[in-house]
Amino acid sequence: MLHAIETSGITKKFSEVTAVNNVNISIKQGELFGLLGPNGAGKTTLINMLSTMTVPSSGSARVWGFDVVADASLVRQSIGVVFQDITLDDRLTGRENLDLHGRLYGLGGRIRKQRIEEVLSLVELTDRADSLVKTYSGGMLRRLQIARGLIHRPHVLFLDEPTLGLDPQTRAHIWEYIMTLTKEGVTIVLTTHYLEEADHLCNRVAIIDRGEIVVIDTPKTLKSRLGGDVITLELEDSADIARLYAIYEHDGFATMVSRSSNEISMAVRDGESKIPRVLNLAYNAGISIHSVSLHKPALDDVFLYHTGRAIKDTDNSELQGLMRSRSHSMRR
Ligand SMILES: Nc1ncnc2c1ncn2[C@@H]1O[C@H](COP(=O)(O)OP(=O)(O)OP(=O)(O)O)[C@@H](O)[C@H]1O
Ligand SMILES: [Mg+2]
Repeated sequence: MLHAIETSGITKKFSEVTAVNNVNISIKQGELFGLLGPNGAGKTTLINMLSTMTVPSSGSARVWGFDVVADASLVRQSIGVVFQDITLDDRLTGRENLDLHGRLYGLGGRIRKQRIEEVLSLVELTDRADSLVKTYSGGMLRRLQIARGLIHRPHVLFLDEPTLGLDPQTRAHIWEYIMTLTKEGVTIVLTTHYLEEADHLCNRVAIIDRGEIVVIDTPKTLKSRLGGDVITLELEDSADIARLYAIYEHDGFATMVSRSSNEISMAVRDGESKIPRVLNLAYNAGISIHSVSLHKPALDDVFLYHTGRAIKDTDNSELQGLMRSRSHSMRR
């Protein structure tokens, strides 16, 4: 098989909102593919369509060769899904949650037992397997969700914000499990709004904004396309931002100029030699600079370049995620 996933013009409309708009992607077997975008970009909706949880409004998709609408049950047998919201039963132990899931997938007794031990050990939860899930920490819950998504050995694994709200150490730990899985040949689609996560893990990323794919490539290529360096200026007075931004835009020496509430960034070739000019332009306009930094482009800069917005400006999804899972559990 050539592609583990292939979409053709896939679109999802919710009355007023077009959550996913005409998305075309092909993901190779064994790829670790990232969907990167801010809150409300349409990442979860796309994953939901690919995992047969939501029916597309138009367009189509094949996962592991099966059509997500016509062959939904075959798709479901081929995939594992780790949802953004925690959907474990906290009145059961970790092992019981896995056992239940294994039964749902029709795994017979001996195989099921063996798979449960395997996935528990993969996410290092063997020691706590017999504790009630309500006693688990946030990181343990995520790890158990990942284990559950893997129990039937899926060909394709969807991970929707697998590290949302976790501390950096636990996040790094989960990255290791994810990398282990790709070594075993599992195709992984991961959504995240953590740019460094996408950069670190993914073979390729699609930047998705307002339901549309803005650009798809390897993190390396995306960054190198911006040019050599990024200069970031912090101003003494944020009231000067718009004026200085216009000056740099007009001057045209940068391949990209972008601004946030108190900083201006620009992508330039040969950053060191451009700093004097950058400072002179500010000085001549009577604008004081608080600090200057020079760095190699990161995916933050790529996102800013392609969308004109900083992903961080809208980065309050931890909170939203928490609120959502709370309303979720209240409904049940
Ligand atoms: N069931 C629904 N009914 C109506 N609108 C919806 C529904 N699900 C999603 N949307 C809307 O579709 C858009 C995309 O939402 P989606 O959850 O796919 O974004 P996301 O990229 O996963 O965001 P986040 O980073 O917050 O998880 C949003 O505007 C959202 O409000
Ligand atoms: Mg989401």
